[in-house]
Amino acid sequence: MSARGNFSSRLGFILAAAGSAVGLGNIWKFPFEVADGGGAAFVLIYLIFAFVLCFPVMVTEVAIGRKTEKNPIGAFNSLGFSRWNIIGKLGILCGVLILSFYNVVAGWAFGYFIEMILGNFEVGNSFGDFTSNVIKVGSYAVVFMLSTSYIVSKGVSGGIEKLAKILMPTLIIMILSLVIYSFTLENAMEGVKYYLVPDLSKLTNVNTIGGALRQAFFSLSLGMGALITYGSYLSKKENIVTSAAMITLFDVGIAFIAGLMMFPLVAYNLGGEMSNVQGGPGLIFVTLPGVFETLGPILGIVVGAFFFLLLSFAALTSTVSLLEVPVSYVVDEYKVKRKRAVAIMAIIIFIIGLPSLAGNGYSAFFTNAFNLPGGSSDFMTLVGYITDVLLMLGGFLIVTFAAYVWKKENLEAEIAQGYEGYKDSIIRKLLNFCITYLCPVVLALLFIMVVLNNFFGINLLG
Ligand code: PHE
Repeated sequence: MSARGNFSSRLGFILAAAGSAVGLGNIWKFPFEVADGGGAAFVLIYLIFAFVLCFPVMVTEVAIGRKTEKNPIGAFNSLGFSRWNIIGKLGILCGVLILSFYNVVAGWAFGYFIEMILGNFEVGNSFGDFTSNVIKVGSYAVVFMLSTSYIVSKGVSGGIEKLAKILMPTLIIMILSLVIYSFTLENAMEGVKYYLVPDLSKLTNVNTIGGALRQAFFSLSLGMGALITYGSYLSKKENIVTSAAMITLFDVGIAFIAGLMMFPLVAYNLGGEMSNVQGGPGLIFVTLPGVFETLGPILGIVVGAFFFLLLSFAALTSTVSLLEVPVSYVVDEYKVKRKRAVAIMAIIIFIIGLPSLAGNGYSAFFTNAFNLPGGSSDFMTLVGYITDVLLMLGGFLIVTFAAYVWKKENLEAEIAQGYEGYKDSIIRKLLNFCITYLCPVVLALLFIMVVLNNFFGINLLG
């Protein structure tokens, strides 16, 4: 065990990294991005991107982290390429920005749980009334940030492993039960069709393609060094490739079943009229309570409260990984005590999140003032776009760095540790091809396409 602490087992690392990956991105963001991106075509592209473009980035991040045993800035310094530590700096900035709004949404989920058990919850109350009550949602966000801080202050390998071990299986069982229930509702099949039968004309739509890649990076926690940081606690005996494969499968699998749960419910609420589907951040917070209500007053509250509790826990294992990145940087590089680093970072991030908190109905300015080519938008959506794009850029830079600056031989040597027979395997050939050619080229092109489209209104695909 190194001085920085290690995960106690391979399962520990996988659980923690999967805990980082599985969160609001799968259950809150994925369904509404599917709805915004046009249904099954989005899902198909998302699946391809996750395995072909994102999985190789994940292997690379974990390998860099394990090789250097450092935070995302220190990692590049210790490999001897301190100029490239800009990747780590961007990553830390990105993590701080993501956590600033993610914590707000996590507060909503947690707030739904509390309001339900207190009996304050009426489905008739709109989601908008809830989010615009800043004192209330602000308090929930404070509680959430404090919980995250508490776990991170204990150190990464202690708290998270245990939490994830119990919660992930429970969450999966809950979602699967809801999938079964949703299939029994009227018009369910319209929803399934929308979700699984692609409209081929959308396969060349910029928003569909760009949205799928943004979502894949976000959902897998890639491109900002979260997995460099978690990799830095991974033992040399472990197989990076199979670990990364399990994390990818797990994360994608959970998003997939979350969609399978959501779209029949959406179809039920819309009376089967899937052309009226609306995406947006309110999707699960509006659709799910409506459906829980059909279970009857008592069962509805029990199931609803339990669902939002589990969602809050899934969010917590992600916020922990988001806070861990800047904290590990401050601890490693400035020799600040962990507890103090946590306190400083949590306060800064909470303050940066205030406009996101206010921009969901409370402050008209932060709710509408940001003009993106797709229409005016709120502060949280804007920050979400910026961070998504930074993640893609980070992913591109990380593979390019590993293949051409650090050199692919060194990357291979690190991957080969803990993976007997890697040198002669077909996996090695495939990964090499992706990391040296496919990922750098395709990620660069898609990055340019998304930036032009989302920020300048220029559509390269016509
Ligand atoms: N992947 C997390 C989720 O899907 C969010 C996240 C993104 C966490 C980037 C860490 C880094 O909820």
